Amino acid sequence: MSDPLKVALLGCGTVGSAVLRLLEEQAGDLTARIGRPVEVAGVAVRRPDRHPDVPAHLLTTDAHGLVTRDDVDLVVEVIGGIEPVRSLLLAAFEAGKSVVSANKALLADDGVELHAAAAKAGVDLYYEAAVAGAIPLLRPLRESLAGDQLRRVVGIVNGTTNYILSRMAETGHGFTEALAEATELGYAEADPTADVDGFDAAAKAAILASLAFHTPVSATDVYREGISAVTATDVARAAEIGCTVKLLAICERVLADGGDSVAVRVHPAMIPTTHPLASVGGAFNAVFVEAEAAGQLMFYGQGAGGDATASAVLGDLVAVARNRVAGVAGPGVTTYAGLPARPIAETPTRYHVSLDVADKPGVLATVAQEFARHGVSIATVRQDGHGDAATLVIVTHSAPDAALSATVTALREMPAVRGVTSILRVEGLS
Ligand code: HSE
Repeated sequence: MSDPLKVALLGCGTVGSAVLRLLEEQAGDLTARIGRPVEVAGVAVRRPDRHPDVPAHLLTTDAHGLVTRDDVDLVVEVIGGIEPVRSLLLAAFEAGKSVVSANKALLADDGVELHAAAAKAGVDLYYEAAVAGAIPLLRPLRESLAGDQLRRVVGIVNGTTNYILSRMAETGHGFTEALAEATELGYAEADPTADVDGFDAAAKAAILASLAFHTPVSATDVYREGISAVTATDVARAAEIGCTVKLLAICERVLADGGDSVAVRVHPAMIPTTHPLASVGGAFNAVFVEAEAAGQLMFYGQGAGGDATASAVLGDLVAVARNRVAGVAGPGVTTYAGLPARPIAETPTRYHVSLDVADKPGVLATVAQEFARHGVSIATVRQDGHGDAATLVIVTHSAPDAALSATVTALREMPAVRGVTSILRVEGLS
């Protein structure tokens, strides 16, 4: 049998320990699939005393020394965060090592620089686990769909928020109660900011958009709203129009005469219950892809968890190890399209708006006039109740987001409008 390929593991939390265990349990199969055995050269951690299950001779606090060691072939990074990981990965590339990472924040911020460094060194950079955990998604975008033209990628890429919104729909509870339940059951972190405010989903959206549209997109290009303002009323109103509320990461190519652009946004939205993403419940993830030739594709599965995420890491590890055995680097990513990021204000969206109004002649006309004044076309209007307690439920056609939000601001000022009780964007309606 030929010499083993040596792997440096950076980080040994939930995912790292699952990677270590699976490497050991599946050693025979992995050797057969790769053509050479894989051996762990070292595990870099901050506190070796916290890892009694890892053989002591493998543990080190010197991550830089480990990734640049002559006998290391491949680096697996499951530490997370920007620094020191960014510097470690650049050092690994410079030393000629291929890298597998699960680091969405880093790839969303510095993907272009890291890919350039990997390409210069003639090595691989794979990061399937960075978006939607176990779901094979980045390789399909990078490779399987590389011959097609993608129009849209719409995903539920954050399990915590999907769990919270699912529970709000099931129980009628508000956001605060649903978050408390998610925290108690371990679906939400003690500090849930990254999840509930959409930062996690925005980083993933940036990665998806970059790959889908061959364009550099970073997290700062992504418009972001979280779910903390979603109310029980929003969820109930959604159900009334045959919709459900989801936190969506939406990446789309917007076609325009002046040139195409890429609009990338993360926000809660109503989607029809008949849409494939509507049935994605609990902490699951799913991504819906629309391509010119392939049509509609749906990827579904576990977006988090030690073993599930380790599956994606090991899939990448096998890919880069096979390339190493063959003496080649796999396909990189291309950013040749260089499409500009479209600001949310100019991105076409649709709104659902619920208004409490007095049921008097002329009220609907003045409300409709406000939409018309901003160039927003109304698709449907429904009135519930009458007298002082009437509610107008309006769904618009597509219009620039700035026009829709200006309409809502103007509605709030109208004497006939007692209150705007629910505003959410709507996606997936024909
Ligand atoms: N915190 C993420 C989620 C998983 O709730 O889906 C890791 O990206």
